[in-house]
Amino acid sequence: MSKLQIAVRDIADEMRERTDRGEVATYIPELANVDRKHFGIAVVGVDGEVVVGGDHDMPFSIQSVSKVFTLTLALGKAGDRLWQRVGREPSGSPFNSVVQLEYERGKPRNPFINAGAIAVTDLILSGHQPREALGEILRFIRFLADDQSIGIDEKVAASEQRTGFRNAALANYMKSFGVLDNPVDLTLGVYFHQCAIAMSCLQLARAGRYLAMSGRNPATGHPVINAERARRINAVMLTCGHYDGSGEFAYRVGLPGKSGVGGGILCVAPGKASIAVWSPGLDAAGNSHLGRVALEALTRRMGWSIFGA
Ligand code: DON
Repeated sequence: MSKLQIAVRDIADEMRERTDRGEVATYIPELANVDRKHFGIAVVGVDGEVVVGGDHDMPFSIQSVSKVFTLTLALGKAGDRLWQRVGREPSGSPFNSVVQLEYERGKPRNPFINAGAIAVTDLILSGHQPREALGEILRFIRFLADDQSIGIDEKVAASEQRTGFRNAALANYMKSFGVLDNPVDLTLGVYFHQCAIAMSCLQLARAGRYLAMSGRNPATGHPVINAERARRINAVMLTCGHYDGSGEFAYRVGLPGKSGVGGGILCVAPGKASIAVWSPGLDAAGNSHLGRVALEALTRRMGWSIFGA
């Protein structure tokens, strides 16, 4: 067994036994039904090595992890013009905070908090029907993962559409400042559906490989994005990917990562591997508790922190 295989096996075994599992998200009713006992991990090395553990092939709601893919798409569409619409500074605030938007005249701090991600999705939607925009997002993720079976959990999308009052407030507020171009309900419809994309750890780790490989699609060697852009997306993941838990995540794990309230985390070890973990129980900042614990153990054992072994 390789060092990586042993590490992943040990971590999956340990996570199965842990009782400190955090709490599942309940503000999206459909997510409250997910069993906290699940834990999955998948590591896809830049050399093609695939190592998995636990529930690595069980699809879960990727939620905010989708924001990495929509940011990549929107940068492809608008280039650096995107940064006129959203900032790229850590917010130090919860993912659904309203108060900062008022101080900053409707311009979201970064593309990973909800307001910023809604503004990014609005940009992808411009010039399209919602169905086409969603199709573009889904096609891009399927292409990255090299897996046409990836789909949307309509129940989760409907559940959030019914209860997403906070996101509606954020979107309406941005609209009042002219930050959104499209009707609020259409932008939110696409946003709720992108968050409801369901993927397994293995599919997610495969989809994230381009960020570990200077923007190249490992299956073909062709660039998805250029190396500079991949580096910059990784930088924003490191500083903003876990909201007001981003500092703690960098301190403990030392890698760019993006979390979702479904309990998934996509993590990038540049030049080494793309890693996805899933455990539905969340910490107080809305990030997967055991997901972070597992990544901390993995990076320590493999010496993968970008800050040094
Ligand atoms: O908009 C929301 O609140 C959810 N669809 C996504 C939030 C999320 O995943 C935050 N992540 N930790």
